[in-house]
Amino acid sequence: MQDAIHYLTANRERFVSELCEYVRFASVSAQTGHRDDMLKCAGWLAEHFRQIGLKAEVCETAGHPIVLASTPREPGAGKPHYLIYGHYDVQPAEPFELWKTRPFEPQVVNNAIYGRGASDNKGQHFAHLKAVEAMLKTGAVLPCDLTFIIEGEEEVGSSSLTEFLKKQRNRLRCAGVVISDTGMPDKKHPALTYALRGVAAMEVKVIGPSRDLHSGMYGGSLKNPATALCEILGRLHDRRGRVAVPGFYDDVKKLSRFERRQLARIPFNAAAYRKFLGVPSLFGESGYTPVEQRSARPTLEINGLTSGYQGSGSKTIVPAWASAKLTMRLVPEQKPLQIIRLVERQIRRLCPPGVRLEISNGHACPAYMTSPRGPQAQAALRALKAAFGHEPVLLREGGSIPVVTDFKNILGVDSLLLGLALPDDNAHSPNEKFDLECFERGMVMSLRLWEELAQAKPAGC
Ligand code: BES
Ligand code: MN
Repeated sequence: MQDAIHYLTANRERFVSELCEYVRFASVSAQTGHRDDMLKCAGWLAEHFRQIGLKAEVCETAGHPIVLASTPREPGAGKPHYLIYGHYDVQPAEPFELWKTRPFEPQVVNNAIYGRGASDNKGQHFAHLKAVEAMLKTGAVLPCDLTFIIEGEEEVGSSSLTEFLKKQRNRLRCAGVVISDTGMPDKKHPALTYALRGVAAMEVKVIGPSRDLHSGMYGGSLKNPATALCEILGRLHDRRGRVAVPGFYDDVKKLSRFERRQLARIPFNAAAYRKFLGVPSLFGESGYTPVEQRSARPTLEINGLTSGYQGSGSKTIVPAWASAKLTMRLVPEQKPLQIIRLVERQIRRLCPPGVRLEISNGHACPAYMTSPRGPQAQAALRALKAAFGHEPVLLREGGSIPVVTDFKNILGVDSLLLGLALPDDNAHSPNEKFDLECFERGMVMSLRLWEELAQAKPAGC
């Protein structure tokens, strides 16, 4: 272990420049113009794994390729096998003009690498790669067998990965999955995330007249579809901030005292948070703290709203239609398809006469929750504490990682979510960065994690 830690320190500069090389690929999965960058990035990553000493392949899928890499195996050693999941695809970098450095020309400023994908997710899984390199290059015996599975479609819904897991089920049989793709409150509070919210998406279209009409000639004699949509959407919450859809909370479990205590340990300052968001005051479901509201309670959000004339100046029309994109964030036990049905039923009930409704469903995944008290979670907490020098916190987070449900359903294992991202890393926003101290401590955490996990559970997977 000491040799490996020395190796990490001695090679720090090189690691940073290699991470810059990795961030340089404009691996934007959502934009077809970047297909070639996706392929080149996957190829570079596989080659990097080989240089470290792993067996790596670029696996074709119906979409973007998946990079699979395994540490050398010693037959009969009976070590536990763990997967490390990450993604090499990144969000689009637009709007470019808001970047202070160019998104795909990474630069180190104030001990952080700036560039699209630096934090979400290249830097975070790169820490695990470098920890494995340190063990292999210093001749250490790896405590676990490891398989990296780094995909290229996380930011667009991971649709190829589900099939891939089903096909490779035998080869991927493992004791658990380790994922660094979540966050921590700050460097003094390293975190194990034991729950993520699920998500269910839908689109509602209210259809009125067969074309936009002169609002002076016809307005007043027919229902305006934009007004109808506003009436519907305005009734989906009550004044206490609860979702006003009958049955919406039926499966929602009460927060336990233990959970509320854990969530209360997360450093939070309401005034600073309000300022950070840029709003005049906070608002949320009454009876819950903001930390609980955004991570452990279900919500319904309007993500997009479109109708009528959006150009400059005015245009006096009754629009032909109005539409809204909605997502519900879900907590454990809520069933995504049932929630979509309940919301659809309520929207149909609320719809006034004189217009028609068209409702379509989008992607959906359930919430994820695992026990933070199990032996693997305890092992992870020890590794976090040793690496960061502070007592870790247990988090429930509000975002979603749909593949964790696939890992559970297809491979039958839980995911350890050990995020290295800071709240101000600007994931999905301009000026994304990855803090180099998080990178260094993340590498040490990874080193310790395999030792701890090897002892946490009897070998056999
Ligand atoms: N890494 C995030 C998810 C995340 C962020 C989890 C912060 C916990 C804390 C991931 O890349 C993401 O953005 N997921 C999407 C999933 C959706 C497109 C199905 C999300 O949460 O909106
Ligand atoms: Mn993301």
